[in-house]
Amino acid sequence: MGLGLNEGAVELMVNLNYKSYPVIISPALLEKAGGIVNANLADVSKCVIITDRVVGGLYSNSLERSLEGQGIHAASIWIPEGEEAKSWNEAGDLIGSLIDMGVDRRSLIIALGGGVVGDISGFVAAVYLRGVRLIQVPTTLLAQVDSSIGGKTAVNHEKGKNLIGVFKQPNVVLIDPGVLKTLPLRELKSGLAEVVKYAVIADAELFKIIEAEADRLINGEIRAFSKIVPRCCRVKIAFVEQDERDEKGIRAALNYGHTVGHALEAVSSFGIRHGEAVAIGMEVAAKISTSQGLMEEEDFEEQHVLFKRLGISTKLPNIDPITLVEYMHRDKKAERGSIRLVLPTGIGEKPVIRPVEDALILKTLEELRSNEA
Ligand code: GLY
Repeated sequence: MGLGLNEGAVELMVNLNYKSYPVIISPALLEKAGGIVNANLADVSKCVIITDRVVGGLYSNSLERSLEGQGIHAASIWIPEGEEAKSWNEAGDLIGSLIDMGVDRRSLIIALGGGVVGDISGFVAAVYLRGVRLIQVPTTLLAQVDSSIGGKTAVNHEKGKNLIGVFKQPNVVLIDPGVLKTLPLRELKSGLAEVVKYAVIADAELFKIIEAEADRLINGEIRAFSKIVPRCCRVKIAFVEQDERDEKGIRAALNYGHTVGHALEAVSSFGIRHGEAVAIGMEVAAKISTSQGLMEEEDFEEQHVLFKRLGISTKLPNIDPITLVEYMHRDKKAERGSIRLVLPTGIGEKPVIRPVEDALILKTLEELRSNEA
């Protein structure tokens, strides 16, 4: 591709007709960002990097330098870190800053950060001036393997997570697994839950790779991440290409563990991380699957043991299951009164999506209270 990318670089393509875009995965990518912008986007008038205080402190200087080095004027806006920043008010403030900075339709927004930064920046890029160009530069494992690809953007409403949003496919996604070295272990583990999710719903070989690399992954060894990140991106891309707007029941499989997960995040006021909550949600869904004869007990055990090896707890925290079920009914995944769950059918096998009785969900949640860790 003539951009002097380092050895081991992988370029994938998200094929969505006129909205197609590359996902470039490579070490030391931030310093190449300016060249990549110029190679992929014509006539960029200026670039605004939206980031948070933690990630901005680490990486926004090198990204700005790389852009300026290619003649692209760059400036950064830092938002507070954490899920609370993903709000309607914060989006309004961001738009105010873009207006003050003279951002126009030829400008580019770069989202530099984790899922919160990616979601709110994508939302703002979609609505500001009816849409400006967007590059996602995810810096958490969760954002690298999931939220940066596929165009889902959102801010939260006080009545629920991600209730306000639009689809906005980015123009490019730049993934440098090397930045994961600065990620706290808790965030890394939270991302690993999504990695296990991909393996269970679509990629049995990935499951084996995670098993083989488990120790290296929880030790934060970048070489292990360089193996699994492109593999997860391939799985994500395949789902997005088949069902871009999540309306055919295909992309919905990516919500494995998420219905219970979102309830846990919201009811704990985001004290429980997304991936931590998703892991518990996957345990609930897999337990329900086995009780319904949809999945072998052995497969449930394999998932359970892998979470344990990765140090990811599947024990239900001290939250009333009834409160969780009530939240699930309000969540957008509840349809015509029933809670619909993605239920796995085996490791690497296509899951099914079924309505599940409240009583069964409550019983399963109660059982998880006594999980060991
Ligand atoms: N994270 C779920 C999706 O992108 O559809």
